Amino acid sequence: MDRVRAQYEAHPYPARDPKDEAKRLVTGSPSHLLEIDHYLFAGARDWSRPFRALVAGGGTGDATIMLAQQLADLGCPAEIVYLDLSEASRRIAEARAAKRKLASIVFRTGSLLDAPDLGSFDYIDCCGVLHHLEDPDAGLRALVAALAPDGGIGIMLYGALGRTGVYPMQSMLRALGADLALARRLLSALPESNWFRRNPFLGDHLQNDAGLYDLLLHAQDRAYTVPEIYALLERADLRLVAWIEPARYEPESYLADPVLRRATAALAPQDRAAFAENLSGSMKSHVFYAVRAANPAPTVATFSLDAVPVLRELDGSALARNFRPGTNLSADLGGHRASLPLPPLAGAILERIDGRRSFAEIEASLPPAKDFAAQAEALYRTMNGLNRMLLRARAGSR
Ligand SMILES: C[S@@+](CC[C@H](N)C(=O)[O-])C[C@H]1O[C@@H](n2cnc3c(N)ncnc32)[C@H](O)[C@@H]1O
Repeated sequence: MDRVRAQYEAHPYPARDPKDEAKRLVTGSPSHLLEIDHYLFAGARDWSRPFRALVAGGGTGDATIMLAQQLADLGCPAEIVYLDLSEASRRIAEARAAKRKLASIVFRTGSLLDAPDLGSFDYIDCCGVLHHLEDPDAGLRALVAALAPDGGIGIMLYGALGRTGVYPMQSMLRALGADLALARRLLSALPESNWFRRNPFLGDHLQNDAGLYDLLLHAQDRAYTVPEIYALLERADLRLVAWIEPARYEPESYLADPVLRRATAALAPQDRAAFAENLSGSMKSHVFYAVRAANPAPTVATFSLDAVPVLRELDGSALARNFRPGTNLSADLGGHRASLPLPPLAGAILERIDGRRSFAEIEASLPPAKDFAAQAEALYRTMNGLNRMLLRARAGSR
């Protein structure tokens, strides 16, 4: 743990400048509030009720700031506990919070192994951290011990296949006792046959020192396959409720051959996700949500005409303007260009989504169509698969 702490004291990650808070809110997954609501609270959480979140290994503050800002925007009486080993990272996160005048954050320096001492949390974020622990299982168990019975957790772990080439590089750099300068030399001297050089999905080392250090000179890291993540969760008495983006974990997103599509569709969900990872080859990280295995309640929002669709980082009107019935939506799935069918009413529905109207209200504003529900659901499946459409239950909507 000391080596990991020392690394993040020297290279807080990711590199962030508090001044940028004036320009933009960094959003992402896990821990976008729309995702938390949709995947962990069935789209129905009442945000006027208190909400307590832990950001375990908060780094320079991305998830902490996103969560605190989104909860403040909703007027939610929230407390967000930021926890990290690195004081240098904490100082950056604190400066970002100060720029935004976010008062709901409690900053703590320490190990997530001590999370149970911090009370009980409705939500825990742990993004890019567990794979740096000596014993990730112990880390996850500590987080589960701090999770409320009906709470949920959002995790990011490195993906083994997408990081092809990283570990041989780390091994070579360790053998040389390399620093940043020597690492750069080796990077520019790699033969064409080297897997790291041949892997087009790795770019963190090109961004800045912190990125290079984190990718190639890390004191400790490991990566997971999909089956390894299911096993990790099972050992921690958790069950996975969603992969983000869902479509990337479905083999059919990558396959046009009808025989293969039928064969893969017949697999169990866990086997489909594992198949999709092997098929895609580019998953360098896995983002997912999980709840306690003992929590039997369905926590993922389901499509119904009463649900309120919300678009995320997408201009529905612009998409609607360019939409021609019969044309497919082109989407990038981790380097694979997928062509996804949209129903004829997609444009009309997208244009009317405002985060307040339910599908039923959208239907009422359109000329009658017998199969509106089927078309709305098809649109929802495609857009949700890309993590661009999430649902709020009618009663709990804001
Ligand atoms: C790759 S950074 C990720 C930061 C942040 N979660 C994000 O996604 O932007 C990993 C962070 O985990 C912290 N960390 C590593 N081991 C930890 C532990 N046992 N307890 C608390 N924080 C830890 C490091 O100090 C570092 O800030």
